[in-house]
This record gives sequence, structure tokens and C-alpha cells, in this order.
Amino acid sequence: MAQAWTPDSWTRFEARHLPVYEDAAVLAQVERTLANYPPLVFAGEARELKAQLGEVAGGRGFLLQGGDCAESFAEFHPNNIRDTFRVLLQMAVVMIFASKLPVVKVGRMAGQFAKPRSSPTETVGDLTLPSYLGDNVNGIDFTPGSRRNDPERMVRAYSQAAATLNLLRAFAGGGYANLRQVHRWTLDFMGRSPWADRFRDVADRIGEALDFMEACGIDPETVPQLKTANFYTSHEALLLPYEQAMARQDSLTGQWYDTSAHMLWIGDRTRFEGSAHVEFLRGVGNPIGIKCGPSLEPDVLLRLLDVLDPARDPGRITLISRFGHDKVEAGLPKLVRAVAREGRPVVWSCDPMHGNVVKSASGYKTRPFDRILAEVRGFFAVHRAEGTHAGGIHIEMTGQDVTECTGGAVAITDEGLADRYHTHCDPRLNAAQALELAFLTAEMLNLERLGRRQHAA
Ligand code: PEP
Ligand code: CO
Repeated sequence: MAQAWTPDSWTRFEARHLPVYEDAAVLAQVERTLANYPPLVFAGEARELKAQLGEVAGGRGFLLQGGDCAESFAEFHPNNIRDTFRVLLQMAVVMIFASKLPVVKVGRMAGQFAKPRSSPTETVGDLTLPSYLGDNVNGIDFTPGSRRNDPERMVRAYSQAAATLNLLRAFAGGGYANLRQVHRWTLDFMGRSPWADRFRDVADRIGEALDFMEACGIDPETVPQLKTANFYTSHEALLLPYEQAMARQDSLTGQWYDTSAHMLWIGDRTRFEGSAHVEFLRGVGNPIGIKCGPSLEPDVLLRLLDVLDPARDPGRITLISRFGHDKVEAGLPKLVRAVAREGRPVVWSCDPMHGNVVKSASGYKTRPFDRILAEVRGFFAVHRAEGTHAGGIHIEMTGQDVTECTGGAVAITDEGLADRYHTHCDPRLNAAQALELAFLTAEMLNLERLGRRQHAA
């Protein structure tokens, strides 16, 4: 029998990838401060997202989750938030148009700061310092002062998350996401990409459909869904002192929620049995993601599901596979089969980023676009073969014109990586690459739809 859950019961479990703070008194003070701050999201919103993900689990929707690998204090700017938001809107439109399925939009935004690292230290020349752990823990500059873990950074991260969420809510509800604006979402520098033309075509056809509906009396005034977008936030629930401080009991149901974001996920390095991260997320009512890498055995996954989703609640669990382009078709089927055999209602989503990191000749950490695509293709192929629903994609991307992943229609070469390599952690798709991925995913969704139709006929 599991022990009683409390917001701090995780402290009795094994916690990997948590920073050690020198001054416990400062940490405690910060935790008290955050515990008294307003929640960033409401329990009712998290329940609404869970219901929508429940539809995705049932094959009646698709999840699009994306944003920075790591948000940073330095890149905090309204234009960056707007541009990431609008690329996600563009991607969603492309996918809805092809699949005729609702797309649930979830940003890796407004709280995605803390990072697990493969090595606790970094060495440059003769100097070895603690690794950078994300802007809510320490600084990216390679100096002893910057690499010191500072609890006060959590308060700044909270403020940035609050301001980001405020702007996202305004964009989603204040007219920017109106489908009548669909042409305006294209970013100027995307002009060189052939996919920008394809997007203009889709936008024209949506415009025509809206004209037609308006003539029939259906317009954004009579149907407000046409002028607003549902948009949710998510991040890896890694920094448990922060997440615990953001836990609140819902006054309607008495259930605890982690009010730092609508959806939280557990990373591939912290989803082991007996993990403090699993223990914390077990007790909150939010929808939960679990990263599934090549080392995850089916029986361990099933036991994790017993712990995290004893009620078998559709939408509670999203399994985010991240195998690598050359491992997905061999590794994923056994997990899909085990989950299907147990009749567990999960969303299967594909993270084609984290299994496809390579070092470029010039020394940059990068991801070849063709491998990203290959993993998405492999993911769809596995679900087609197993008769399960390929339910979503989870990507690291930005609305900025960066050069961090190689390839794409406007090809970024190895030598070109140095031009605009700005990420605070892993390499992201730029706006044009993200749109291209959306079209290719849409194609696969369309195939899935045609397959379903044939099956029904
Ligand atoms: C991430 O999503 O940034 C991440 C670290 O992923 P994973 O846990 O899958 O390695
Ligand atoms: Co990453």
C-alpha cells in the first residue's frame, strides 16, 4: 500500500538532478515566498486540458507541444513569446486542416527553466566548474560566481513565467489568434521557405471557408471559438522545491494541483522507480507527461502507470517517446503493446529531438532535420502497424530565425550553425523548420485519417 502523499513526501525518495543549495535558510525563505504567491494556473484549466487530452487518447485529437529547450532570463522578450506562439498556431492550423482533428496546443513555455545535465561539471581549459542547470538554478556564464546555485533565481523565474503567461493569455483570447488573422501569422523571414507558400495556400482556403460560413451567419461574433485559441503551458517538473512551493489545494475538489503550469512532465533521467519526481507528480491532479527513452522496460512503464494513474483516467498520462531515428521502430512497439494490452488510455506523443543529438564538425551540438523527420515517420509507422493512435509531437523550437538544427528546405549547413546559435541548452528548430515539420506531420495524419476511413468502409 502506498504511503500517504503530501506536497513534501517526495523528500523521502531518491531525487536525482536536484541542485544542492549552500544556504538552507535562504532556500526556505524563497519557498515561503513562492508558497504565498498567486497560482499561475487554475485547477479548472488543468482539468480542461486533461479532458482534451482524454479526447486525444481516444483518437479524436492531436497534441502539439513545443517551445524552448530552456527558457532564459536573457531571451525574455515579448517578441520572442509572440513569435513562438504564432509558429505554434501556424503548425496547428496546418495539422487541423489536413487531419480534420482538433489540435491541443501546449507550450514548453512560462516555466521551462530547469535542466538535467549529463555531467555535473563542465571543464574549459584548466578550469572545472559546476554545469549550467537552467536559469532558475544558476547562470550560463562560465564563471564561479555565475555557476553558484542561487535559490533567489526561483523568484525571478516565477515572475518571468507570470508575465509570459499573461501575454500568452492575451494573445490567445484578445484577437491575435482570430482565424481571420491567419495570413498575418507568417513571419517575414519565412519568405524564402517553399513551405511559406504552402502555408499561404492553406490560409487562402481557410479564408474562403470563413467567407462561406459568414454568408451562412457563422462568424467570430456568433461563434467565439473562431477568434480565440485554447493554449496551455507545460514544463519538466524537475526543480522540486519550486514545484512543491507552487502546489495548491483546489477549493472545489480538495485535490492538489501543481499550479506552476497546466501540464508537467517527468524527464527520461528521473522517471525511474522510486524517484522523488514520480512521487511528487503522483499526488497532483494535472495531466502528466512521461519521457520514454530506449532504456525504459515495458514492465517498469506499467508499474509507473499504476503509481501515476491508478484510476486509468483518460488524458492523465501522455507518453512521450524519444528513441532516436534509428531506434524508434525497434524499441517503441514493445511499449505500445504493453500499454495496449493493459487497456490504458494514454496519449502517445513523439519527441523527435532528444534521441537525435549529434556533434557537428565545428563542435556544435546539433540535430539533423532529416533525422527528426525520420523519427516522426517511424513513430507513425509503429502506431499504424499496432493499430494505435499517433497522438502528438513534442518539439524544441522557436519563432526566431536561429541556426541550431542542420538541414530543412532552407538548408542550414554545418558551417552555418555559427551564424545564429542562441540556445541556452539543446538546438531548436527555427520557424521555417518547425512549419516544414508541421506539413510533413500533417501528411502522416492525413494518411492515418484515410486509413481509418478505409477501415470503417
Ligand atoms: C527535455 O525535454 O529537454 C529533456 C531533457 O528531455 P529528456 O528528459 O527526454 O532527455
Ligand atoms: Co532539450
